[in-house]
Amino acid sequence: MSKLTSSSTWRELEQHKDRLSKISLSELFNNDLGLARVNDFVLPLADLTVDFSKNLIDRQVLTSLIQLANDSDLVSKISAMFNGEKINFTEDRAVLHTALRDSSSRPIMVDGVDIKPQIRAVLQRMTDLANQIRRGQLIGSTGRAIKNIINIGIGGSDLGPASAYLALKDYTDQSLTVRFVSNIDYSDLATALHNLDPAETLFIISSKTFTTDETMTNAQSAKNWLISELGEFTSDKHFIAVSSNIAAAQEFGINQANVFELWDWVGGRYSLCSAIGLSLMIAIGPDNFNAMLDGFYKVDQHFLNTPLETNVPVLLALIDIWYGNFWQAQTSAIIPYSHDLARLPAYLQQAVMESNGKSVDKTGEVVDYQTSMIVWGEPGTNAQHAFFQLIHQGTEMIPVDFIGFLRSQHKNDILHHNKLLANMIAQAEALAFGEQQDINNQDDVLSESKVFVGNKPSNIILGSQLTPGVFGQLIALYEHKIFVQGVIWQINSFDQFGVELGKKLAKGVYQEIDQKKITIAHDASTVNLIKKIISSNS
Ligand code: F6P
Repeated sequence: MSKLTSSSTWRELEQHKDRLSKISLSELFNNDLGLARVNDFVLPLADLTVDFSKNLIDRQVLTSLIQLANDSDLVSKISAMFNGEKINFTEDRAVLHTALRDSSSRPIMVDGVDIKPQIRAVLQRMTDLANQIRRGQLIGSTGRAIKNIINIGIGGSDLGPASAYLALKDYTDQSLTVRFVSNIDYSDLATALHNLDPAETLFIISSKTFTTDETMTNAQSAKNWLISELGEFTSDKHFIAVSSNIAAAQEFGINQANVFELWDWVGGRYSLCSAIGLSLMIAIGPDNFNAMLDGFYKVDQHFLNTPLETNVPVLLALIDIWYGNFWQAQTSAIIPYSHDLARLPAYLQQAVMESNGKSVDKTGEVVDYQTSMIVWGEPGTNAQHAFFQLIHQGTEMIPVDFIGFLRSQHKNDILHHNKLLANMIAQAEALAFGEQQDINNQDDVLSESKVFVGNKPSNIILGSQLTPGVFGQLIALYEHKIFVQGVIWQINSFDQFGVELGKKLAKGVYQEIDQKKITIAHDASTVNLIKKIISSNS
């Protein structure tokens, strides 16, 4: 048994689980109409209000969960991250996405060097370029002003800016076209290029490593498109790189002056606040981008300085652990009641699952407990008409995060927005408290089928409005939640070796398809499939 699962705190939590299994959420609320729960289990976090009262918890459970955090020395681990210690122990790297939005004068040292001046310098260069483009002063190789920005990147080099762009589209400059290309499927690039004038188009090649096959292939095809449309063109006027691999960007033909640097202490899935956010900054403008950074910073400061008992990312992380490790929940849903947050679940899927989808702890032992839950979601109310049936009446426990905003993005909209919020509140209420049917008037099957047993947990995260600052707060909340869970599970949340094997094998298979010859030993199924593709190619 691992140290974690054999600890007295773990055993205590198992006993709490047995106790709580016999008490319903209705009963937990009925003790005092739930007033104490609202008092105890609703907390402010910058411009967010986080209501975690509809969880299968009480004070005793929370006390034990906080003890679990203390057992893993969480407070000192949080400081270690913010201070630049090399907590990404498999890659010997610091983890300093928090430095990217730290507007204080505090120096942050990595290998004896203060990294703050480098961060400020890149942010200034991003600001200058964004302003130049937004003023129509960046001129393409035929003399026309750049009006179209295409970000080419994948994973963390796409999901952050792409989902933020959608979330903040009301803040974007409508005279610019900003699109995102990630998939190696040519459809993605073709759709993005549709209707664009190449003479007015700038490609931002976003790749920390500048080796990712999807991004490099799309970048090369973008170059070919420019050549075929413009003939000779000046690469510098149509290509920008965001990367930590300056040499590879130069080899691709991008001048060093057009490379925006990224550092190895920024993980891909935590990189929105770095130059990976350049396309977003161009779209929403430097002031709004800075407001977003400020939102991140506010939550960073809360996370760093608030006692665990009222520390919102810590509490949400612990509640998730409660369900995953003690109630055997396997998945959790993120349901934004905001159509503009449609890509948020995808962004958070990478952040959560690439970070904590691990099964080996920091000592190299295979863990004997569940780590990350599977995270999924879609915006409400669409989600209600798709999969909510299962959350209400299925056999799985699926804790839900509802995310909503008090005010609409649209000045004159009260009708839609209040209906949207009413649905969110009603879903959380229905999940928690269910409904019993009057069984006297119906046959057994019908009456049983109509029972809502309730007792399904959820959090409500309510923001004031979906502004750049609030978006930043929301993402930082999840980033820190992920960190806390990694600390308690004793895993490295900052590497991602699990994605490498597929990449390596794809390279070999591609070569075989390209050369129409199988040269690697595969299983019979794989050989059969490759042969099919080869013969369809000829
Ligand atoms: O999927 C693996 C991964 O390395 C992610 O962690 C990363 O966000 C993505 O690929 C893109 O990597 P890069 O920015 O180096 O192209």
